[in-house]
Amino acid sequence: MTTVTQPVAARLASNDPLPGRAAQPLDLKKIRADFPILAERIHGKKLVYLDNAATSQKPRAVIDAIVYYYEHLNANIHRGVHTLSVRATEAHDAARQTVRRFIHAADTREIIFVRGATEAINLVAQTYGRTHVAAGDEILITAMEHHSNIVPWQILCEEKGAHLRVAPIDDRGELELNEFAKLIGPRTKLVAVTQVSNALGTVTPLREMIEIAHRQGVPVLVDGAQAVPHFAVDVQALDCDFYAFSGHKVYGPTGIGVLYGKRALLEAMPPYQGGGDMISSVTFAKTTYNDLPFKFEAGTPDIAGAIALGAALDYISNLGMDSIAAHEHDLLAYATEKVGSLPGVQLIGTARERAGVLSFVMDGVHPHDLGTILDREGIAIRTGHHCAQPVMERFGIPATARASFAVYNTREEIDALVEGIRKAHEVFA
Ligand SMILES: Cc1ncc(COP(=O)(O)O)c(C=O)c1O
Repeated sequence: MTTVTQPVAARLASNDPLPGRAAQPLDLKKIRADFPILAERIHGKKLVYLDNAATSQKPRAVIDAIVYYYEHLNANIHRGVHTLSVRATEAHDAARQTVRRFIHAADTREIIFVRGATEAINLVAQTYGRTHVAAGDEILITAMEHHSNIVPWQILCEEKGAHLRVAPIDDRGELELNEFAKLIGPRTKLVAVTQVSNALGTVTPLREMIEIAHRQGVPVLVDGAQAVPHFAVDVQALDCDFYAFSGHKVYGPTGIGVLYGKRALLEAMPPYQGGGDMISSVTFAKTTYNDLPFKFEAGTPDIAGAIALGAALDYISNLGMDSIAAHEHDLLAYATEKVGSLPGVQLIGTARERAGVLSFVMDGVHPHDLGTILDREGIAIRTGHHCAQPVMERFGIPATARASFAVYNTREEIDALVEGIRKAHEVFA
């Protein structure tokens, strides 16, 4: 059982980043035992869960943190003098501190709890965007964005009479960096880019992109939804201005996510939603707003979700992000070789640097049919456009099959996937 209160004081006291650790081989048997759902049987078969880019499974530590919260801590935060409220507030504060350390932010005031990456991006579009973008201005994204990093900008552009510019990708699914640089001009007000493509697995050259944008004085929002589960992220080293991610893709619960923003930018931005907690004082004549981060957290937040996200980040930090990255790199290389050499299979997204995702199509077999056949074998993959329809259009296909990996996956599971794809090929050949 995770004790939520006990480490609170220690976490609050510690302002240091987590110590860097060299990659170690992971004890996969032990890790898999930490995830109760992996013991499920699907159609009588062992579950092989390869849909981690959609959402990852939860370790016992996260499930326990939620149960512990509701059994021992539950109270509304910030406004109570009673003991439970103080405990709940401390645990919530500690979770913010854990997030700060996990992404190496300088200050907890820069960590805003939101519902997920989608809400984080909408928050920036509706506050920073609405105050900085005017008619004729431009927002630059890339051709490999998730709909969550396209549509909020389209809504803003439509409202303001601004233009969305899109940096192209090549046939491997890599960003064309020269074209990206050319698209930044005096009218560019914001660059909004993914760190890892959910449809292709491409890791973008983020440092270079941020440097290029900053040279022209343009701030950069990073969609880190598919990055944080796979490798260490340091927002200060990246020097990004905003960073968005979802808890549920990084072993935490659904309904909680994070927006990181540089303090000076957040201070200058108007609030997103109005309500309790985000105010300093309210009269009918005038309302003044609360300090960061509360200015952007109107209403009762997902308290248990934030605490459980903290537990998730602690869990993977203890395994070591470099160890996770090394293990998943091995899985992806193995899967790329095995799946990529199957007859009739074409990989979609062959960037030199990829993380977590293997997308492919198969001659004569629609991805949905493949997904259905694999499900009968207990294998969960995702099929469709992966909320990245412009990526599908770029490659001239309606959909792909996507296997995506997490720390608990094994080479044996990839062998099972390969066997399942072979079976599907036989059925449809
Ligand atoms: C790259 C990327 N960005 C944003 C999102 C949106 O995440 P959420 O639905 O958790 O807000 C996703 C979800 O798949 C994603 O893959």
